[in-house]
Amino acid sequence: MSQALNTLALHGGQAIFPTPLKRPDWPAVDQDTADQLRELYLSRDWSFNCPTEQEFSKQYAADHDAKHGIFMANGTVTLESALTALGVGPGDEVIVPALTWMATAMAVHYVGATPVFVDVESSTLCLDPAKTEEAITPKTRVIIPVHIFGSMADLEAILVIAKKHKLSVIEDCAHMQGGKWDGKGVGSWGDIGSFSFQQSKTLSSGEGGICLTNDDKLSELIFRVKHIGYDMGQKQGEAATAPPEGLICHNFRATAFQALILKKQLADLPELLKRYNKNRQIIEEQLTAAPGFRLQACGRKAALQGYYGLVFIADQEPLANVPRALLKEALDAEGLTIAATYGPVYNHMLYNMPKDSYRMPQGGCPVAEHQGTARAFFLPHQWLQVDEESAAKIGQMFVKVALNAQALMAATPSV
Ligand SMILES: Cc1ncc(COP(=O)(O)O)c(C=O)c1O
Repeated sequence: MSQALNTLALHGGQAIFPTPLKRPDWPAVDQDTADQLRELYLSRDWSFNCPTEQEFSKQYAADHDAKHGIFMANGTVTLESALTALGVGPGDEVIVPALTWMATAMAVHYVGATPVFVDVESSTLCLDPAKTEEAITPKTRVIIPVHIFGSMADLEAILVIAKKHKLSVIEDCAHMQGGKWDGKGVGSWGDIGSFSFQQSKTLSSGEGGICLTNDDKLSELIFRVKHIGYDMGQKQGEAATAPPEGLICHNFRATAFQALILKKQLADLPELLKRYNKNRQIIEEQLTAAPGFRLQACGRKAALQGYYGLVFIADQEPLANVPRALLKEALDAEGLTIAATYGPVYNHMLYNMPKDSYRMPQGGCPVAEHQGTARAFFLPHQWLQVDEESAAKIGQMFVKVALNAQALMAATPSV
């Protein structure tokens, strides 16, 4: 490296991206879908499990190796519907990882049950199976592993524990569209899989979600929960059979417009994930020269890794004690603004639940709080669409900052 390239941009050197890298456009749009949306609009067939919605749900389930797909308004009500269908309610406990978006825990509150926060693994930042087993009590009914950011929870280990203790498993796959664990789609391993199609996700229709299951009875119950009690074959206004007594049913429907927007994205997903994984590999190769930085590990049996984002963790020497804000400043100056991960649910400003409405281990969840938050950087998945040269340069930003750790600390009087 030349002297200019050796010196951090923060200290007057030349930035890795002298012109800030342009963030790839997201979500993807295409003229064909725009034309089909117009046709759908003119057809007036916009909701109530219409053919567009049925087709998408079927294809999405098939692509994830599941038998049934129940399309919904978002990836929070999918979790709530899953819990309701499993009969979870007041007095029950549900294990959720400490490191997840609040929705995973809020869905548990919505059904009146108690979320129990469990720490995550340092490598994958997903639910730690050993700590999960320690947290089980006679009140535990369900485990919700979350396939977080760019990794998959250890499904095998979690399913063994669930079977041993007669618990159900809901996979929160909001971040893991198209992921395959050991060759089989995520969301089809547990009793129910829950996905989100919110604006920032890998497949996006602005808002939306889907539940997957291989269980016919659960499929019927989830459908009834989302469609004010109607069964799947029944037309609006023509209820023929009643939902089970006491099953709380809602209007959690999404529209056909959302299903149509997702159709092309779903067809393109395998190619997108190929690109994401290729660029991850390029960045990871670069990181071998960046002492102190590591990537969140892929799932142990990830046959095809999906991504909500790529997480870089600075928890090793020589970076372990360099303040994250300082690292961020140095990385940003190289031409790409890097974000933070969201922290443990129980520390989130918007999580306003009283302390006696959830449980967490004494001493908190140190891995979620440290490696998953205080030492983590988040690169949203859209960036993984860049060309391979740019991907290599993203890796080089981290190399440059890591190799200048000493200079960074020395030049910062307040540290
Ligand atoms: C892990 C996780 N679970 C659930 C959700 C909820 O999805 P939605 O925003 O579609 O309600 C999100 C959304 O951001 C999420 O990140």
